[in-house]
Amino acid sequence: MTKNKKPDKSSQLKNKDALSIATAPAHQAVLKTNDIVAEQASATDSLVSSQPYNSNKALEYGHDNALTPPPGATAVPRSITLTASTATEDTGTTKTGSAVRPGTNPTVASLNRVRVDASDRPLTTNQGVRISDNQNSLKAGLRGPSLLEDFILREKITHFDHERIPERIVHARGSGAHGYFKAYDALGKYTSAAPFAEEGKITPVFVRFSTVAGERGSKDTARDVRGFAVKFYSDEGNWDLVGNNMPVFFIQDAMKFPDLVHAVKPEPHHGMPQAASAHDTFWDFVSLMPESTHMLMWLMSDRALPRSYRMMQGFGVHTFRLVNEQGQSIFCKFHWKPLQGTHALLWDEAVKISGADPDFHRRDLWEAIESGEFPEWELGLQLFTEEQAAGFSFDVLDATKLIPEELVPVLPVGLMVLNRNPDNFFAETEQVAFCTAHVIPGIDFSNDPLLAGRIHSYVDTQISRLGGANFHEIPINSPLASVQNNQRDGMHRQALNRGRVAYEPNSLAGGCPFQAGASQSAVSQAGNGGFMPFPDRVSEDKVRGKPEKFAEHYLQATLFFNSQTAVEKAHITDAFRFELSKVAVPAIRSRMLSSLVNVCPELAAEVAAGLGMDLPDAMPKAILEPQLPEVTVSAALSMMALPGECGVRTRQVAILIEEGIQYSSLLRLYDALTEAGAVVHFVGPRIGIFTCASGEKVEADRSLENSPAVLFDAAVLPDGNEAIRALATNKHTLGFIKDLYQHCKTILALGDGRELLDRAGVGPGVEENEGILMADNSSLAAIVPEFIHAVAAHRHPSRDPATKDPASK
Ligand code: HEM
Repeated sequence: MTKNKKPDKSSQLKNKDALSIATAPAHQAVLKTNDIVAEQASATDSLVSSQPYNSNKALEYGHDNALTPPPGATAVPRSITLTASTATEDTGTTKTGSAVRPGTNPTVASLNRVRVDASDRPLTTNQGVRISDNQNSLKAGLRGPSLLEDFILREKITHFDHERIPERIVHARGSGAHGYFKAYDALGKYTSAAPFAEEGKITPVFVRFSTVAGERGSKDTARDVRGFAVKFYSDEGNWDLVGNNMPVFFIQDAMKFPDLVHAVKPEPHHGMPQAASAHDTFWDFVSLMPESTHMLMWLMSDRALPRSYRMMQGFGVHTFRLVNEQGQSIFCKFHWKPLQGTHALLWDEAVKISGADPDFHRRDLWEAIESGEFPEWELGLQLFTEEQAAGFSFDVLDATKLIPEELVPVLPVGLMVLNRNPDNFFAETEQVAFCTAHVIPGIDFSNDPLLAGRIHSYVDTQISRLGGANFHEIPINSPLASVQNNQRDGMHRQALNRGRVAYEPNSLAGGCPFQAGASQSAVSQAGNGGFMPFPDRVSEDKVRGKPEKFAEHYLQATLFFNSQTAVEKAHITDAFRFELSKVAVPAIRSRMLSSLVNVCPELAAEVAAGLGMDLPDAMPKAILEPQLPEVTVSAALSMMALPGECGVRTRQVAILIEEGIQYSSLLRLYDALTEAGAVVHFVGPRIGIFTCASGEKVEADRSLENSPAVLFDAAVLPDGNEAIRALATNKHTLGFIKDLYQHCKTILALGDGRELLDRAGVGPGVEENEGILMADNSSLAAIVPEFIHAVAAHRHPSRDPATKDPASK
């Protein structure tokens, strides 16, 4: 026993309901000087006596009480040591620290509490013992046997042996970043959710982008849906908005998710193909599931080949509810709009990038943030009432349908900025655990049956992926809001819960932690009330089935296709042809074609021709006379609708160099491009220093061999007779230029540099093409802004072989 605490005279009941039963304790233990145990016994009795019965019990019953749960009855102990685990909690060391302040939980809070830095520090074991020799194991003699007692070797190897955890069952491949969300306005009219509580409010976020089908080490540029998961560390707890870069999904009911994933993953007998939907089992499944057709249109579109994670939209997909302080609710769909615009790769480019740089998207995100080019997205809401929803031609609970923006406009509500890369990929990006069930007061679910399955699935899978029930304590997952409950124990538990009480109701801890109740209450520590589910009225038969409107499978697939530009349509056609050409069983191809006839007969005919197959009859539909759609073309569904606001910022431009290049034009371009925010690379036949015709030195940071054209958005072919002759003989140069041309990228040829275009066989008359620019010394000044403008356009679709070259069809 170390200290004797004087009783705290402020002991009083805090709950109004409980006040009526608050009386002095029936009997007092005898208080002995310097005897904390006796003092605790006395004070405990006093605390417990303040709750002679559970005053809330009667309020647990009936409908009205269900809508207004009361805050728990609590009492403040007259001494803080009363609720401690131990009477010695004030005996401090550097390890134990001092007694915790009442109500605090240091396992939440910023990541600083776990950041580790080894600068100027020796190696130690995990027990903190300094290691004298990290080169040699302990042996009995230099040539003798290794000794079992070598705890240093064994600890090192044992830890290494367990350094991998299971990868995510889906979305295994991903990249993350930290940032913040800033609300434009207070949205109290619609929601009490903390991030929208006031104008300008800032909420920290962690975001993870991902592919779906591929394994953890698979390529970034697979044709696939991209995950777009955002964790808001709000002051009312963590809210996860776990979305995708497409606004719809393949299936309508969670019951089918394992089937979908089994179908798209590598086929189980031989484990192929990796990160690809172009195989029999996927197309077998989806051609038997016509509700997936709308999503297939998105998957075959350029949306499935983003140029960058920074250049894709995000969607919450499901209908959610917003709920305000008054308990009024409105339906909501979430949209993320990238300020960088929506831009895609071409299929040929994506395939080549997967060899040249499988980490293309991970690197792009990392480098942009490292260079201070923080990617930004605007959050938008589509808000609509239940009455509006009832009138739509489709069901808002059907995740295979979107709400056209012409029907419900998107209201911009805030900006998300990603401004910090993780310190450690494993600790943060790999261990982060998102879940659709993580909502906060003000956000609620709809009855979407797909969403219901997700609400269960994420935490369930994370228990095995992250090794137990306590992964919410891993620093990247723990909220900034304080956490206190009666959950205890389990693998890797970190919280040292104070006291002996792990149940509720209790009187031994003064009723704490207590239920927060429905609303602002007299309980000072409670602040706002707890999360209240929206009391949606349900009165139906218990059945397994789907609503009638779910039976319409094609109208929005057609809407999507009809809303694309000619080049986007051509890419969709090409993608269907490619994917189905990889399907070995003709009957599956034919079945899929028959489904496509229902979307657009011309599309189906073109794909059939590309497969050398006859066009089958249309697949019978599940509903013959659906409600007519409100919207038949929606401009927002084309990627061209969002060209972006960032110009050439972060665009990768290659300037080819060789011995003898002309320096002055290069310097001018370099200055202009970097000034505009482009990232310029000097690409030579090798890396290292090159000498210009006028004697200046330029260093190539990339080589034609290690960085093919697909890794750049645009290129400059330099001036200089000798240099051009040498470049033309390099085995990589002409392929580099051909790819740039085929991929519709901007090329600027300076002076003699035009000869490379001829040699690459992309001329003659090439200068007539959009995005191919020529300049000499006298015209350079005028051409620079034109070049920058052309690079900012991303690419030049008028040159796209998909629309020009019948052979590619
Ligand atoms: C019933 C349908 C679905 C089920 C059962 C399901 C299940 C899962 C599971 C088990 C994971 C792995 C989680 C982990 O290990 O941490 C996951 C990840 C993910 N899911 Fe779903 N999912 C479903 C539908 C969807 C839909 C419709 C979307 C998009 C709106 C989506 C978006 C994501 C994202 C973005 C991730 C990756 C999260 C991260 O970055 O860690 N899922 N899903």
